[in-house]
Amino acid sequence: MLTTNEIRRQFLDYFHRHDHEIVSSSPLVPRNDPTLLFTNAGMVQFKNVFTGHEHVPYNRAVTSQKCVRAGGKHNDLENVGYTARHHTFFEMLGNFSFGDYFKERAIELAWKLVTEEFGLPRERLLATVYVDDDDAYNLWRKVAGLPEDRILRISGSDNFWAMGDTGPCGPCSEIFYDHGPEVPGGPPGSDDEGDRFIEIWNLVFMQYDQPEPGQKVELPRPSIDTGMGLERIAAVLQGKHDNYDIDLLRGLMEASADLSGVSPDGEYRPSHKVIADHLRATAFLMADGVMPSNEGRGYVLRRIMRRAMRHVHKLGVREPMMHKLVPQLVSAMGDHFTELRRVEALVTETLKMEEGRFQGTLERGLKMLSDETAKLPDGGTLPGEVAFKLYDTYGFPVDLTRDILRGEGMALDEQGFHEAMERQRAAARKAWAGSGEAAWDTVWFDVRDEAGATEFLGYEHDTASAHIEAIVRKGERVGSATAGETVELVTNQTPFYGESGGQVGDTGTIETPTGRGRVTDTQKKVGDLHVHTVVVEQGTLARGESAELAIDGERRSRIRAHHSATHLLHEALRRQLGAHIAQKGSLVAPDRLRFDISQPTPISRDDLMAVEGVVNARIRANTDVAAKVMPKDDAIEAGAVALFGEKYGEEVRVVSMGGQDPGANAPWSMELCGGTHVQRTGDIGFFKITHEEGLAAGVRRIEAVAHQPAEQYVREQENTVREAAAALRATPDGLVERLNQLLDERKRLERDLAETRKKLATAGSGGGVETRDVGGVPFASRVVGEVPPKDLKPMADEMKKKLGTGVVAIAGSWEGKASLVVGVTSDLTNTVDAVQLVRVGSQALGGKGGGGRPDMAQAGGPNPDAGEDAVSAIASALSEAVAA
Ligand code: ALA
Repeated sequence: MLTTNEIRRQFLDYFHRHDHEIVSSSPLVPRNDPTLLFTNAGMVQFKNVFTGHEHVPYNRAVTSQKCVRAGGKHNDLENVGYTARHHTFFEMLGNFSFGDYFKERAIELAWKLVTEEFGLPRERLLATVYVDDDDAYNLWRKVAGLPEDRILRISGSDNFWAMGDTGPCGPCSEIFYDHGPEVPGGPPGSDDEGDRFIEIWNLVFMQYDQPEPGQKVELPRPSIDTGMGLERIAAVLQGKHDNYDIDLLRGLMEASADLSGVSPDGEYRPSHKVIADHLRATAFLMADGVMPSNEGRGYVLRRIMRRAMRHVHKLGVREPMMHKLVPQLVSAMGDHFTELRRVEALVTETLKMEEGRFQGTLERGLKMLSDETAKLPDGGTLPGEVAFKLYDTYGFPVDLTRDILRGEGMALDEQGFHEAMERQRAAARKAWAGSGEAAWDTVWFDVRDEAGATEFLGYEHDTASAHIEAIVRKGERVGSATAGETVELVTNQTPFYGESGGQVGDTGTIETPTGRGRVTDTQKKVGDLHVHTVVVEQGTLARGESAELAIDGERRSRIRAHHSATHLLHEALRRQLGAHIAQKGSLVAPDRLRFDISQPTPISRDDLMAVEGVVNARIRANTDVAAKVMPKDDAIEAGAVALFGEKYGEEVRVVSMGGQDPGANAPWSMELCGGTHVQRTGDIGFFKITHEEGLAAGVRRIEAVAHQPAEQYVREQENTVREAAAALRATPDGLVERLNQLLDERKRLERDLAETRKKLATAGSGGGVETRDVGGVPFASRVVGEVPPKDLKPMADEMKKKLGTGVVAIAGSWEGKASLVVGVTSDLTNTVDAVQLVRVGSQALGGKGGGGRPDMAQAGGPNPDAGEDAVSAIASALSEAVAA
């Protein structure tokens, strides 16, 4: 008997032998399709190759594609467990021709594989074709030799395959396996339910593209897309009716049976099926970066996980069990999907934590629900209010409640549930609007209600396709924006980080089939809406269009480095200065970081250098940076640093870095943080503190740089030193010595200069002093050139001393202004007042007033050339004073 792994291998090898490139499965989160929640078919990764928008170096391919059908348009979640062939996760085997072979070769390859390689009996096979596809009909006769009664023409959507409202599509032809008349069930196309005829393979003759819903254009070249569920074909080849009996899924169900002690085949078979299926979906989604959360894809994952946990509970198990199944899954599928091995620990840990945490509320919620259903008649309907309470208070996704009700033959008042949700939404909106925290325009509430939260893909991707949900111009919603306009734009998902937690918003580009724009900023509004500020540069951007979003990658690298450096700085400060320090504010930008902390005293230079050294040592250790989502209380208990007074949801993201020291029970740095970070601390490069200052009482601010800006900072500092050295004709090393030398020299020169000035000023009568007799009083005056005003007084004192008795006046100039000093020997101050005389002189200099004491007064004026006039004016005033 072929194992599932062997069937997959055989399929890939067969097409490889027929010149098909073996291409790896693309991730479950589609990178190139904003309309899809999860990859749900093999052709998704080739969508743009079919339409000719993307080129690959081969024109035939074969894949085994991971698919998830839960939560989106194709949602099988609620059926899993109760049917033979529903899965949330499955593999789709497919071969593809991109404009190479078409119908005939596709039918031939398929027929040979199933009949020759897989050895299925020809008489058990039949085919369907699209009602008017005579080509396909005739080819099944010619190539496969199928008799007419085993080729069925089917109309409608069953035999016309489309990936969605848009995208490639075409008529298809399906191969069915007939289990034989002893199994109930009608032929393809009939309404007769039953398992007799099982569809095993869908061959799609891709001929059209639907750029817009309802519009159909021919593809550049007719192509082939096929899809064969691996689990289905394995069931047929292993002689089973139920996909869950194939080796791979049976193994998981038996492991679940062993752990729970409950048989896999009795009454609880559906629960084992659910557990096996949901375990696969959980592990594969996590491997592709989806983590349980309350929004978007993360919420679909959480719903899947909680539904599985409820079935574990149903088996009577009262402790976490799902995580114990992970090794079994990894050993069954990890050889082909090596990503499973990479995330084994993460999946195990996350499952254990989520399950442990949900257990208590699950128990209480189930009790509440059974009390409520006990009040209902058989086949009754549960009020929507109750389902809402289960959702809101007990964390029961509504499909979990539905699943339980289904088991009891009851229904849910969907309308009532919907109304309760709406009421809560309206109340939340009111509370938000009234909180005064942020005055958001109502337009953003409207957008939020309609579009939901923006899914942020930027932890993992720098680019993404998205769907334009809303465009807002000057506070008004508009349908489109044209070149030259600046608008705010919201998409369903985005790699653009919206400014928050100190980290600035991303910038980058947006491109649609009809236009292009530059994203100059991204802000968060109403909590979880990422709003891009877009300057339209070309054409038109319109609501409803698909867009390619790309952030400025290099800028974001620098932001990441500064954000991770901030965490290391924070921890280094706590360790150096004490646990009292708390973050008061922070800015994380591409070119620098700023970090404010509560700290009463200035941080010493030694402490700063020590902190800088510790941060750089952790950078050099180059350990991994890890982020995970966990319950807030668990995070805080584990020692994660949270910001005081910050509001956190129940779910928090914890970023750890710096490695784990021997003997420590937690990573070196662990912080609650929604920001983007480097992968390894070595990516930060180098860290340099540039500035420390007091910001307010008890708050210090530190500024620092990392990554390339740190290099640049050091280079600039170095250049300054070099320039200074060159100017001083010294080497950078000898700069300080040279500078001290120069300062000493300058001091000496200043001293010499002052000495010389004094000498000049007092160098006897020949030095410019004029002495005359004014009414019997000796009057000595002098007009000097450039002398600082402060030097005039000592000169006047000197002159007074030399004169013995009398009046002295000195006028000088300095830096374009006049100054004047008048001195009167103490024996004369009764008759002559130096202040009065200096005022008279000041007028001559164009100044006003002056001041001092009767024996020494000083004044100034704007006119430096009027020194002689001032002296004459003083002489006349003196003669008047003496005469009086
Ligand atoms: N894309 C086709 C399908 O999903 C093959 O059925």
